[in-house]
Amino acid sequence: MTNPSSDHTVQPSRPFVPPPWETVGPRVRDVRVILTAPDGIRLVVVKVETDEPGLFGLGCATFTQRPLAVAAAVEHYLKPLLLGRSPHDIEDVWQAAYVSSYWRSGPVLNNALSGVDEALWDLKGKLAGMPVYQLLGGRCRVAAPLYVHASGRDAREVEEDARRYMEQGFRHVRCQVAVPGSSTYGVAGALDSEEPHPAHLRLRQEAWDPAAYVRIVPRLFEHLRSALGDEVELLHDIHERVAPPDAIRLAKALEPYRLFFLEDPFAPEENGWFPLLRQQAAVPIAMGELYSNPAEYVPLIKDRLIDFIRVHVSDIGGLTPARKLAAFCEFFGVRTAWHGPGDVSPVGHAANLHLDLACPNFGIQEAHLFGERTREVFPGCPEIRDGMLWANEVPGLGVELDEAAAARYPFPEHPLNGAWPPVRLADGTVQRP
Ligand code: CO
Repeated sequence: MTNPSSDHTVQPSRPFVPPPWETVGPRVRDVRVILTAPDGIRLVVVKVETDEPGLFGLGCATFTQRPLAVAAAVEHYLKPLLLGRSPHDIEDVWQAAYVSSYWRSGPVLNNALSGVDEALWDLKGKLAGMPVYQLLGGRCRVAAPLYVHASGRDAREVEEDARRYMEQGFRHVRCQVAVPGSSTYGVAGALDSEEPHPAHLRLRQEAWDPAAYVRIVPRLFEHLRSALGDEVELLHDIHERVAPPDAIRLAKALEPYRLFFLEDPFAPEENGWFPLLRQQAAVPIAMGELYSNPAEYVPLIKDRLIDFIRVHVSDIGGLTPARKLAAFCEFFGVRTAWHGPGDVSPVGHAANLHLDLACPNFGIQEAHLFGERTREVFPGCPEIRDGMLWANEVPGLGVELDEAAAARYPFPEHPLNGAWPPVRLADGTVQRP
């Protein structure tokens, strides 16, 4: 008989218990969602508060078409995961939260996760006493060159708008023109403009005419290149609004005008067309603002089918996946062009900017000219000078949130709670996106 207490006895297996995490430092005490629309655009910001008085972080969770769903995801599912945790454990929190739903990714869950993730980066910067770009490796440029949005009812109006920006020091201008009688993307005052406009409150009525659009855009750029000269960088966004062969035809027709990039030629479901586009047209391509899963970018980057990644950073889950995606792009000569219109909060713009400053393969940053009320709600909002976006040197992301001011600008009334009404072809068919 062997002695049951002998050293050689195999012990019954026990469940593995990981060693306790670091126990010093602040803990998360509360996670709150702030909804505000200072300039009419529905913004979602997450505030992660700690048990140290006055120590908190802010993150952008803005999915302006589904903000209430994002708020529910934060309050019901992420807050319970966060309470009591150290705000230092950004990567672990991100990984644990990402798989806690089992079915993961998607714009609602990723935006919620971004709100928490960016708030933790903001907190880490405050704890370190450094701007976030320092935590990302330090800056490799002084500021981020911007592109602005010019538009008009015809080529001459677009030219005037572009000149106005060039006189203000911008060297990169995205140009969109109205298609007469047709609902048009990206034209100020058009029914589906990204800019706040009272027309947002109505359902769209004009039909979209892709054939007229494909005819008119090369004429626009022929005019702009001869009128504005060779120095200015011109950009254009198709916004996934034409059939794939038409997008390829348009890219070929735009070749002589030397675009800085042509954006979103295909809907995200049509990635199989990229090799053909690449063979057909020597035009730099920017793609991806509608992708949600960071892995969706990988095939296009590794096969060098695009030149710039367009990413709504909060839509892929925040700074944590975005910095990895940028590093991956660096090895393939692909540059960054983070999504930065008005439906990114100033906190999100600051997150974009810290990446812009720290990534060697930065390409260009989309600009939003913040309104006065937005600046009032978000003190420390990044500043635009000489056509570039400048960070302040405040620790963290550098943007604050005046909650009393935010409360004065609730979400506006809207028949669809801010969702986009459909764009339709003349026969009534719904057009993507
Ligand atoms: Co776009």
